[in-house]
Amino acid sequence: MRVANRLDEVGFSDIVQIRNKVLELRAAGQPVHAFHGGEPFFDTPQTIKEAAIQALTDNLTRYAPSSGIPALRDAIVRKLQAKNRMQATVDDVLVTVGGAHALYAAFQVVLNPGDDMLLFSPYWTPIRDMVTMTQARPVIVPTATARRNGLTASLEHYSTPATRAIYYNTPQNPSGAVFTRSEAEEVAAFAQRRDLVVIADEAYEDLVYDGEHVSIASLPGMAERTITAYTLSKSYAMTGWRVGYAVAQEPFMTALRKIVLYSTNGVSTPTQWAAVQALAVPESQIAGRREEYRRRRDKLVAGLNELGLECALPPGAFYAFPSVAKIHKDSRRAAALLLERAHVATIPGVVFGAQGEGCVRFSYSVPPETIDAGLNALRSFLS
Ligand SMILES: Cc1ncc(COP(=O)(O)O)c(C=O)c1O
Repeated sequence: MRVANRLDEVGFSDIVQIRNKVLELRAAGQPVHAFHGGEPFFDTPQTIKEAAIQALTDNLTRYAPSSGIPALRDAIVRKLQAKNRMQATVDDVLVTVGGAHALYAAFQVVLNPGDDMLLFSPYWTPIRDMVTMTQARPVIVPTATARRNGLTASLEHYSTPATRAIYYNTPQNPSGAVFTRSEAEEVAAFAQRRDLVVIADEAYEDLVYDGEHVSIASLPGMAERTITAYTLSKSYAMTGWRVGYAVAQEPFMTALRKIVLYSTNGVSTPTQWAAVQALAVPESQIAGRREEYRRRRDKLVAGLNELGLECALPPGAFYAFPSVAKIHKDSRRAAALLLERAHVATIPGVVFGAQGEGCVRFSYSVPPETIDAGLNALRSFLS
């Protein structure tokens, strides 16, 4: 027996293996300072949970339109206009099973076998596999070098006649980098000149500490060539609810709707009612969380630098990406040593692409006490 060829080059997440190792250590009664996750530190707000309970009580449990309930699509449009400065309508919005599903659908509708897709590296690991599954080729653009040399020149350098799309993630996982407005404008101008599609991933749009978040689809001439993926996972601590949305115009939107229809037939109805409530969470609450993240970031990054694990202050998301050259040049070995000897769980940088080698990813979306305890454990290990 064999599976379809398009899965031949598709990997399985290394991150899952690390999670399993942590569970194993904990089951054996060993303490683990867990920095390997990618989830908000707080629980889903009560108002959101109550909206789901209310939906169940009201028997809002039947099939909903596969593209999303009208109340949610309306709320998304209002949010896009107010926060992202995107002039979208309900026809441009599609509810998906998390941001991952929106991205999966986007790659499926844009890429043909043999196409090239420009991918800034380091990147969120599943992206490479989602692209590979379409039988297109991810073409790596090293982010740090590209920003140093100018994005236009770098995108030019890595483009081929087969280039069809650019994956544009800001703020970035794993580096916490945030593209500036002028960088967004450069990417937009390049996409227009080369007639490319931009697949924008704004999962961490609410977590920018220094600078501003610019939605590339809000720039002139970009709405028609951008598919933007959003998620409620990070802003509202809803990782397990699995709800997000895609924003796009035709011809992409009809194609995206087909992918959702034939993959999941939409997001569970009570979850969509909870999502309506999430979008009603006041901006002040989101800003308050952001300040809590900022304090955690500052504490962790200061501690890492003090220990000689060189780390630039990440302007966005909730990850620090220090160099572990001091421990081992191979980031898998470094992460294994950190876990075995210091009981500090991180993700080896190389799983985010070759440009992540030499670093490990710490999430600072953890209690401040975990940051203190983790830094103490690192101090003992390194001394
Ligand atoms: C960069 C990035 N994009 C998208 C997602 C998708 O999140 P979800 O599928 O939970 O909405 C994540 C989750 O970690 C992420 O880091």
